[in-house]
This record gives sequence, C-alpha cells and structure tokens, in this order.
Amino acid sequence: MAIYKAAISAVGGYVPETKLTNFDLEKMVDTNNEWIISRTGIKERRILKEPGKASSFMAVNAAKEALKKNGTDPLDIEVVICATVTPDMRFPDTANTIAKELGATNAWGFDLGAACSGFLFGLTTGCRFIESGAYKKILVIGVDMMSSIIDYEDRSTCILFGDGAGCVLLERSEDDNGFVDADLHGDGNGAQYLNMRGGGSLLPTSAETVKNKDHYVFQDGRPVFKAAVSGMKTATNTILDRNNMTKEEIDWVVPHQANMRIINTLTDFLEIPKEKVMVNIDRYGNTTAATLPLCLWDYEKQLKKGDKLIFTAFGGGFTWGSIYLTWAYDSN
Ligand code: COA
Repeated sequence: MAIYKAAISAVGGYVPETKLTNFDLEKMVDTNNEWIISRTGIKERRILKEPGKASSFMAVNAAKEALKKNGTDPLDIEVVICATVTPDMRFPDTANTIAKELGATNAWGFDLGAACSGFLFGLTTGCRFIESGAYKKILVIGVDMMSSIIDYEDRSTCILFGDGAGCVLLERSEDDNGFVDADLHGDGNGAQYLNMRGGGSLLPTSAETVKNKDHYVFQDGRPVFKAAVSGMKTATNTILDRNNMTKEEIDWVVPHQANMRIINTLTDFLEIPKEKVMVNIDRYGNTTAATLPLCLWDYEKQLKKGDKLIFTAFGGGFTWGSIYLTWAYDSN
C-alpha cells in the first residue's frame, strides 16, 4: 500500500556534441543514408569522444540540470539509481561516482541493468521507494555510452546506437498527480538474440574474447523487432485496461527509441495522433537506458500538469513494460 504518491519534479539531459551522421557511417561500413532512414528513422547520433570521459560524465551533467531547475540541494538527495549497461567500470557502481561528482554525499545508490528497459525499471523502483515513505528525494538516471561497446565494422548494429543521458528527480507529490501503475516483464529466453557475451563471469575478458569480438553488442534484429512490437503493445494494453483508460485519454506516449518502424506500429495500434508521441530517434539514435528521459528532456516544455503519460520500452534480456503516470507540474 502506498503511503505517499511519487512524482517527477524535474528533468535534465545531456548529449555529447560530436555527431555521427549516416553519411559518416557510409564511409565506415557498407551502408547508405536511405537504407538507415527507411529501416530505422535515424539520421544521426551523438558520440562521447573526449578521452577520460564516460557514462558518469554524461549522467552528472543531466543530473546537475535537473537539480538546478528545481533548486534542489545535492545534499538532500537520498538515493541515486543509475540505469546503464555501460557503467564506467564493472565496479564500483557508476551511481556512486555520480553521487560523488554531484556532491550528493548523503546518498546511497546502485546501478541497474535491464538494457533498454533500464529507465522503466529504475523509475518504478524509485517511485515505489518514495511511495513507501522511506525516501523523499531520489535521482533516477538513464545513461549509456553505447559507442564503448559497438563494433564500428558491424553494419547491423553500428547504425543504431548513440550516447546520452537523462535524469529525473522524484519527490513526494504535492497533489494527486504522479506515478500510477507499471506493468514490467522479463524473459531470459531472449538473451540469445541481444547480448554482449564477453567480460562477464561466463566469458572473462581474454585475448580470445577480444579476437572473437565478444566485447561488442550482438543483435539478431528480426526476432528482437517482433518481440519488441508485441511486448510494448501488450504491456500498454494491460496498463490501459487495469486503469480503465481509453486510448483517447492518453496525452503523451513516451516510447523507447529503437526503431521508428516500431514506434509507428505502436502509434497505429494506439490510434493516437503522431503529435502525441515523443520522438527524437532521428537525432540521437538508440541511447539504450537514456531514450525515455531524453524524450522527456526534449518535450518537457510542452508538458502540462495533469497530462497522462504512457512510457513503454523493450530491451535485451528480454525486458519490457509500460508505466502510466500523470505529469505533476507545468513545465513551461
Ligand atoms: N545497411 C544496409 N543494409 C543492411 C544494413 C545496413 N546497415 N544492415 C542490414 N542490412 C541488410 C541485411 O544484410 C539484409 O540483407 P539481405 O536481405 O540481403 O540478407 C537486409 O538489409 C535486411 O536485413 P534485416 O536485418 O532483416 O533488416 P531489418 O528490416 O530487420 O532491420 C534492424 C534491421 C536492426 C534495424 C531491425 O531488425 C530492428 O530495429 N530490430 C529491433 C531493434 C530493437 O528493437 N532493439 C530493442 C532494444 S535495443
């Protein structure tokens, strides 16, 4: 039973300056701008190229913006949840580095995987923490530096991914707006289609794993595409049914940005006007855990108090789900 209602009270984001366009990729692998746009909707992605900078750098920039917008002192942050598959190091957790860099010295924190569903799982966890009454202020960050695990000789993956970070501040809601419901799922049978095998305890890094390119993302795109469409549809339907909501009542859909064709299928299924669907895949590509908060960052000015938002994502694992919340502040 929730004691308090949890709400997003600020949003921050960060993308690196360096752009990797489809035309740049044409010079690197056997691909072309037309294929990439028609099959994925992506025109360019951002790449973090500065030596010595990694996921924590992008996350800290996103979190600083969220804290500043809302006038929150980093010392008041109690928990930092960092969703990522590209932590700075295997350990310690990147959440700890982020807290240190922010001066959030009273916070504990942890990293959360779940690939492209990481932010969805992190947001649910953070909201449940707030609802329980145990915590008042939590940062939930989705960040990935996908360029660190992509093989730029593999045209089936290198065209898809980019780097970025998004962050939300969670607080107790001042009214009835905020987090309502989540429908989250996992299926380990999906591991064979989307993974990075090397560098874990199963296949510790060795000359052999590097030779076999096991330290890069592997994806068998077609089965992932099919499972993504059906998983996101089903979870969204469950959320609508469970909350007695009609499709017409949705003000905004915040979909994972993996492929414009997946987003369009979802939009058609929901029979929702395209203007109500947040899209930035054309500019950032798939930033894995960062796609959902980066959508909020881009669209924040258009959000009004009371707007009904449906988040939905699908990722490696497989992991997927949908969240329903109402926006808690007038953003403009
Ligand atoms: N440029 C040009 N041609 C390419 C290419 C590229 N970058 N990548 C693949 N191709 C070719 C393939 O070799 C294949 O050629 P063939 O028919 O001669 O064998 C053809 O294009 C079609 O390949 P296919 O893999 O079937 O394309 P697709 O329409 O499934 O699109 C993805 C590939 C990856 C864009 C798509 O499957 C996808 O988005 N999958 C899901 C991603 C996702 O949701 N991930 C979830 C979380 S990250």
